[in-house]
Amino acid sequence: MMVEKQGFKHFMLKEIYEQPGVVRACLEAYFNTDWNAASANNNSPINLGLPAELYADLEQIQIVACGTSWHAALVGKYLLEQVAQIPTQVQYASEFRYAPSPLTPNTLTIGVTQSGETADTLAALAMEKERRQGKEPKYHARLLGITNRPESTLGHMVPHIINTLAGIEIGVAATKTFIAQLMSFYALALDLAYRRQTVSSDTLEDILKGLQHIPKEIEATLESQEHLTEQLAHDFAETTDFIFVGRGINFPIALEGALKLKEISYIHAEGYPAGEMKHGPIALLDAKVPVVAIAMPGSVYEKVISNAQEAKARDSRLIGVTPVKDGEAAEIFKDLIPVSAVDELLSPIVTVIPLQLLAYHIAARRGLDVDQPRNLAKSVTVE
Ligand code: G6P
Repeated sequence: MMVEKQGFKHFMLKEIYEQPGVVRACLEAYFNTDWNAASANNNSPINLGLPAELYADLEQIQIVACGTSWHAALVGKYLLEQVAQIPTQVQYASEFRYAPSPLTPNTLTIGVTQSGETADTLAALAMEKERRQGKEPKYHARLLGITNRPESTLGHMVPHIINTLAGIEIGVAATKTFIAQLMSFYALALDLAYRRQTVSSDTLEDILKGLQHIPKEIEATLESQEHLTEQLAHDFAETTDFIFVGRGINFPIALEGALKLKEISYIHAEGYPAGEMKHGPIALLDAKVPVVAIAMPGSVYEKVISNAQEAKARDSRLIGVTPVKDGEAAEIFKDLIPVSAVDELLSPIVTVIPLQLLAYHIAARRGLDVDQPRNLAKSVTVE
């Protein structure tokens, strides 16, 4: 199928703009919109088409992935642990292959790969399947793939798939497939939470309603963010180091913001949990090193603000990704990139977007090949 840029300068920008539609497609596919009818029939409001035996007596989840998919898996871990209360480990597939976790019983292993072709992820899953063969039933492999290509090698290798429904992604730096992976994890964690009754039905309903509003929230802020990030790109085109910080569910988004910038602009960037800055990276800070802080109201907002304050005291230019426009946020952040005031639990779906735009505009301003960055491939089919 021939994919066109449709008036966008690069595929990456087009794909960033496709994200509200991707979230809508995932909502339609994974969630029963008639929540009342589903709950009246004792049906889960989530419909992933996964068999009950995949979930039965589940004690542990382990996720293997690489790159951006690994970041989606970290958000998944937060949701699976905090919402569904299931201990979850996230491993780099390339590490897991040579240092697998000890075998645990009743364990679901999830491979996340948008292409379904990443060699390390496939090898980690193959190894997991093999080492569980011939063991007693509770140690049998339960494999689930999360992929944008159900027809891929992964699709043939594992018995169960969540299809991430992002459509073909051309830009090497993943954007809309990441958002779709996040949607898969919301659906999976909420399905498990419903079945294991780890959240009340009122809470579940609130989360589901919040999710339904996300596409509009993204649309509402995309245009203003684009303008702002384009202006910021002007200031930062020659910057050599960037730090991204977040906490809790937005820590993986700080990692993803840094990775996007590295991948396409070739600027050195690090993502850090904001509370860890004082244990080393703070030594890097000065007026030449900007810090992007994700500050969503919720359990860690005050903490992030106080970590940002520490960075500001070292003369760093602070850029806040936050819906808060006044108070301490207005004082600390030199630049505010507004995002919608969505529930903290859902916020990664909106906070990642300005970070994608920031990376895009910096790379475009530097005149780089945004869609085909040097040394990178869309899928890495060798070890
Ligand atoms: C490559 C790409 C990354 C991507 C990673 C994992 O390294 O350059 O952008 O995140 O592979 O790809 P996957 O298809 O497994 O999600």
